[in-house]
Amino acid sequence: MSMAKQRRVAIVGTGSYLPERVLTNADLEKIVDTTDEWIRTRTGILERRLARGDEVTSDMAAAAASRALESAGIAPTEVDLILVATITPDMPFPSTACYVQDKIGATNAFCMDVSAACSGFIYAMESARAHILAGGVKTALVIGAEKLSSVMDWEDRATCVLFGDGAGAVVLRESTDGRGILSSFMGSDGSLSHLLNLPGGGSRYPASEQTLKDRLHCIKMTGNEVFKHAVRCMCDAGNRALDRCGLTEDDVRWIVPHQANLRIIQAIASRLGGSIERFIVNLDKVGNVSGASIPLALDEAVRDGRVKPGDKVLLVAFGGGFTWGAMLVEM
Ligand code: ACO
Repeated sequence: MSMAKQRRVAIVGTGSYLPERVLTNADLEKIVDTTDEWIRTRTGILERRLARGDEVTSDMAAAAASRALESAGIAPTEVDLILVATITPDMPFPSTACYVQDKIGATNAFCMDVSAACSGFIYAMESARAHILAGGVKTALVIGAEKLSSVMDWEDRATCVLFGDGAGAVVLRESTDGRGILSSFMGSDGSLSHLLNLPGGGSRYPASEQTLKDRLHCIKMTGNEVFKHAVRCMCDAGNRALDRCGLTEDDVRWIVPHQANLRIIQAIASRLGGSIERFIVNLDKVGNVSGASIPLALDEAVRDGRVKPGDKVLLVAFGGGFTWGAMLVEM
C-alpha cells in the first residue's frame, strides 16, 4: 500500500486558553520558603497562570475547544466525540467532557474523560484516532484542561511552585491528503504509581476529616525519582514512535514535550532531538499544566507561525501512573 493511500487522522484545528491571573516566582516567595533563583534554575519556570475561584476546568476546556473549532471552521454541532484529558475534573462525575459539551453546544457528541495525568492528551489523541479509523466518529474534539491550583498543597514548596492552570484543544478528522498522525507509542507502569499521585477523594481514601488533616487531597510527588523516569521514558517513546514509521529525529521539524521542567527537556534534547532549538518550550510562562501542557504549547506555536503545515512534529509526554507516550504528526 502506498503511503498516500494509508488512512490517517489529521489535526484540522487548534486552540488554547489561559486564565488572566499571573503568579510569579516573587509571589511564591511570599507563600512558601523558596526563591526565584531556586525555581528558575531547578525548573525553568518564571510564572504560571491561576484560574479564578469561580472558573472551573470545563470553562477553560470550553474556551480552548471553541477556539480550536473556530480555527478549523467546524460548527460545534458537527462534533461526534469529545475527550477531555484531565486530573482536575469539575467533579468526580459526570465527566468534564459532558460539561464542555453543554457549554459549547456540541449536542451531537458523546463525551468522556481520559485519566493519564500528564500523558493524558496523547492518550486521548490515540483514543480519538482509533474511534475515527473505526468509522463511528467523523469529527473529534480532544482537549487537555487542568485547574491544578485546586489540588495544590500551598504549604509544600516542592510541588506548589511547579504547576499552573489552562487548557488546549485540537480538532481531529480523517485526513484527505495523507498528512496527519504518522505513528505513536504508549506505555504505562502501574508499579510506580506511588511516586506521583493524588491519594484522597477516591475509594481508597474517601474524604474525611483525617484525609483533610493529612493533606491527601493534594498532589504528592517524589520529584527526583519522577525526573529520572521521565527522561528515560520520553526518549524511549520518541524513538519507538519514529521507528514505527521508519523515520529518524532528522526528519522531525519540532518536538513538543510535556512541559514539566526545563532540565528534563534539555536532557531529552541531548539524547533525542539534538538541538534544544527544535523544542517548543513555554513552561517559563505557564509552568506544568499536566494534561493541558502539550496542546497549549502546540497551539501557541501554530498561531505564532513556528509550526507550519507539512511540518513533522513529535509530541512526547510522561506523567503519573506512570504513563508515557509519543506521537508523530505531520501537520
Ligand atoms: N524552593 C527551595 N528549595 C526547594 C524547593 C523550593 N521550591 N523545592 C524543593 N527544595 C529543596 C528540597 O527540599 C531539597 O532540599 P534538601 O537537599 O535540603 O533536602 C532540594 O531542594 C533538592 O530537592 P530535589 O527534589 O532533589 O530537587 P530536584 O533538583 O530534583 O528538583 C523538581 C525538584 C523540580 C520537582 C524535579 O525533581 C522535577 O522536575 N521532577 C519531575 C517533575 C515531573 O516531570 N513530573 C511529571 C509530570 S507531573 C504529573 O503527572 C501531574
